[in-house]
Amino acid sequence: MSDSRLAELQQRVPALRLKTDPADLENYGLDWTRRWTPAPLAIALPASVEEVQEIVRWANRRAVAIVPSGGRTGLSGGAVAAQGELVLSLERMNRVLAFDAVDRILTVQAGMALQSVHAAAQEHGLMYPVDFASRGSCSIGGNIATNAGGIRVVRYGVTRDWIAGLKVVTGGGEVLDLNNGLVKNSSGYDFRHLMIGSEGTLGIVVEAMLKLTDPSLPTNVMLLALPSFDVLMRVFSAFRSRLQLEAFEFLTDRGLHHVLAHGAQKPFETVYPYYVVTEFVTGDEVKEAAAMEAFQFCMDNGWVQDGAISQSDAQAEHLWRLREGITESVARCKPYKNDISVRISAMPAFLEETQALLGREYPHFDVVWFGHIGDGNLHINVLKPDDMGNAEFVRQCEQVTKLLARALQKYGGSISAEHGIGLVKKPYLGCTRSAEEIALMRGVKRVFDPNGIMNPGKLLD
Ligand code: MLT
Ligand code: ZN
Repeated sequence: MSDSRLAELQQRVPALRLKTDPADLENYGLDWTRRWTPAPLAIALPASVEEVQEIVRWANRRAVAIVPSGGRTGLSGGAVAAQGELVLSLERMNRVLAFDAVDRILTVQAGMALQSVHAAAQEHGLMYPVDFASRGSCSIGGNIATNAGGIRVVRYGVTRDWIAGLKVVTGGGEVLDLNNGLVKNSSGYDFRHLMIGSEGTLGIVVEAMLKLTDPSLPTNVMLLALPSFDVLMRVFSAFRSRLQLEAFEFLTDRGLHHVLAHGAQKPFETVYPYYVVTEFVTGDEVKEAAAMEAFQFCMDNGWVQDGAISQSDAQAEHLWRLREGITESVARCKPYKNDISVRISAMPAFLEETQALLGREYPHFDVVWFGHIGDGNLHINVLKPDDMGNAEFVRQCEQVTKLLARALQKYGGSISAEHGIGLVKKPYLGCTRSAEEIALMRGVKRVFDPNGIMNPGKLLD
């Protein structure tokens, strides 16, 4: 070990696995943003809470910054290590620790993949309902760090709603057991909720107690083709008032274009400007009739022009791919991503204003809109033209993001609905949080991370 700091770490934690190969440094130093050049000091792969605690103590003594790392599927640069940090990967801490049938709580280590959490819940006849496309690669610890949302928020809420307890190693090296799975607990500040969404800036989530629920009833997936943007929220209301929605997602023809080019099956002969993928509870004649009624009502009003409904799991999967496949299909174009939200009631006015703004500001860029419209969350992916340098592309997108941030401020919205602030959105935090709030956030950081070793430069400076 040529670096004396690493030699000391290895000496203090002899069983600790450390990686320093250039290929590993590159791989673990990046998330899905691919905008920064990875340059971590090393990768530590602890296998226990005690090892994590020892690493944090060492990092405090040697003033080494730590970047907590899960599946590195983040989209805001929260897991980027480009400044000689130690990447603390939780990938070896990926087991189920306990299940309690009475409490309906699954306790897991933070490095467990979301899909494995789903499978573990299913083994007990229950469901962990937070779900999104990166389920196979992202980790539950990363989901907690960003308060991840996904495709079923309209029905089940966000990650925060499913956390019954956390074990955390703080930046100061203390191990905290937060909330312990209690349903009711009025005993002061709830640090569990402070940790959720803190993007690894206060400490490292090492274990989580996850609430489970009954498995979903049978569902159907429907694809709808829409003539214009302004009918979108009307279609949402029509479906929501008649059906138990599990998901209500939208995409534009540009999104469809990219997923089709990436191998998805074409749903309709005609190309329409807007699409909705919705999933709703069925399973009996009354619910099936309600679904048909919702569809017909929208057709009669001219809000929907075409539709397809899944007749099998395979067909449901094909329809979902049209929406879930977008991120992967545009990844090669190094998209600049906005992940914004407003209250659902503000959505029609905000959509109109945003559409005008983007049409005006991005006349020459391929702009792919999609998202969780039922939650007031819009994803705007601006694709980098092949002949434009990355720096110039980001510069142009940042100018537009400033305008978007202003519009968000007007509507009381958020610059990050579910991806986190990380490095990407740090300059715009002030459009969502007041100066007083940001000052208090800095103060909180100092309490939990007195030496500023936890993911420095992410979320706050
Ligand atoms: C998704 O919902 O597919 C992702 O959160 C959005 C993205 O890749 O921008
Ligand atoms: Zn999303």
